[in-house]
Amino acid sequence: MGSSKGGRHGLARGLTNYGDPDFALYLRKSFAKSMGLSDAMLDRPVVGICTSPSDLNNCHRHFPELIEAVKRGVLAGGALPMAFPTISLGEVFLSPTSMFLRNLMSMDVEEMLRAQPLDAAVLVGGCDKTVPAQLMGAVSADIPAVQLVAGPMMTGRLAGERLGACTDCRRFWARYRAGDIDRAAIDRIEGRLAVTAGTCAVMGTASTMACIAEALGMALPGSAAIPAVHADRLRCAEASGFLAARMAVAGGPRPSTIITPETVENALRVLLALSGSTNALVHLTAIAGRRGIGIDLHRLNELSDTTPVLVDLKPTGAGYMEDFHAAGGLEAVLRELAPLLHLDVPTITGESLRERLARPPAEPVDRAVIRPLESPLAPAGGLVALFGSLAPRGAILKRAAATLALLEHEGRAVVFEGLEDLARRIDDPTLDVTPADVLVLKNAGPASPAAMPEAGYLPIPTKLARAGVKDMVRISDARMSGTAFGTVVLHVAPDAASGGPLALVQNGDRIRLSVRERRLDLLVPEAELGRRRAVWRPPALPERGYARLWAEQILQAPEGCDFAFLRPSGPA
Ligand code: FES
Ligand code: MG
Repeated sequence: MGSSKGGRHGLARGLTNYGDPDFALYLRKSFAKSMGLSDAMLDRPVVGICTSPSDLNNCHRHFPELIEAVKRGVLAGGALPMAFPTISLGEVFLSPTSMFLRNLMSMDVEEMLRAQPLDAAVLVGGCDKTVPAQLMGAVSADIPAVQLVAGPMMTGRLAGERLGACTDCRRFWARYRAGDIDRAAIDRIEGRLAVTAGTCAVMGTASTMACIAEALGMALPGSAAIPAVHADRLRCAEASGFLAARMAVAGGPRPSTIITPETVENALRVLLALSGSTNALVHLTAIAGRRGIGIDLHRLNELSDTTPVLVDLKPTGAGYMEDFHAAGGLEAVLRELAPLLHLDVPTITGESLRERLARPPAEPVDRAVIRPLESPLAPAGGLVALFGSLAPRGAILKRAAATLALLEHEGRAVVFEGLEDLARRIDDPTLDVTPADVLVLKNAGPASPAAMPEAGYLPIPTKLARAGVKDMVRISDARMSGTAFGTVVLHVAPDAASGGPLALVQNGDRIRLSVRERRLDLLVPEAELGRRRAVWRPPALPERGYARLWAEQILQAPEGCDFAFLRPSGPA
């Protein structure tokens, strides 16, 4: 490792000097010594621990203990651990939506990784937007980095039944709306849904992104599904710190080596085999986009048609993340998927995916949770992209979470102009709506002031819910929580606020959904659409601040809703 004097690692990295570099290092070391660190420590390479604890992020509440374990590993690996915070995005505590702040967090991560004297980093995140933001930032800063996730929550219990955030939150709330259970029952359930530290207990966005980070090769093998409160999670934190220290010493590998068209395609296969969150597609697109790698939605459909669903977890199946971990976790899924994956790809450990999978499996696999490739849960992947006159640039449907009978459907549009209109009218007893209608929500896409919230899971109008209606075709430019389910068409692009055809839909229009043909069409003559387009006006630009930056820079879902200026200008 040698001395940092005159070297370019550790504290000597990125020195600002005004003509006298020796003085700049002398000054920095004298301030570093105020932290009580010895010369032996200050001469080590530095591993930054980019962390995101917050009192307003329940999912990250065990981070102090996790960070201690990371530090232990970094020290054992011969480097100096330096933890620093960035903004933290606690999914349920942010308005208008955590999505609005994902790109801001990615900028925070990127600039702090770049500005500070770091030889490598451990990225510690977990709640939905934090892992995408950290990976986006790390790819752009391109310093050697290990992703460490929070790990999922354990389930709670009520009268013998297991409960987990947040598929069960929705399931019971739907029953409460339908008059099936009373206020006292729903209040009792409220205290049993989220009972430990960690991320949502099902294969929602956070868990899907954890698996994607591992599938990309950016996290330790076997790390994605370990529960937050499990002792293995701390051992994984220690090992992540140790690896980052070795990467700091060796100078790599960097994210630009790990994130390639092949590993991105592997991650898409994993997303499909998990029947993972629709949000993960947006985030993976944004991460890949930072390397100039695009995700073609037609290619997604090819992959979807040839990737079986292997994992039986909520929201589409039966189990929880704790079951997934006990059953063999992502490791077991990767082994099954191996014939479909690019195996000669690098990972942060230095071994290729082929080498990783050549080792004998550590534990037997529970086939009730993770199916073999030959007898999958479903023959094709959970997500499909749709195209047509209503979505020229594509829309996404999680067919695994949809009602079979609604996958081929033509109906009358019942249109909501935006979130306020939806809130005002959806439960109006006089709303003109039947179960065969198509609920349409506009102005909830990336270019809208709502900033693409998880509003795409429109509630079934109360009067229909009380009559027993469980699902309807719902279409919007919004996202949907990874823990939700239903025949819900999302991410319609271009979105309404940028003037896409969705902006032109009116009550009573006919809409046709055909998943078989991968089509989503607005059955209105072009001449009529032209008349409507002529009077359409975009939303006003916010006057100042981050909202203004968002409005000016935001790209559509097929670009991962990144900011235009954050993507590389040249080819990858
Ligand atoms: Fe943090 Fe679900 S609220 S992962
Ligand atoms: Mg979520």
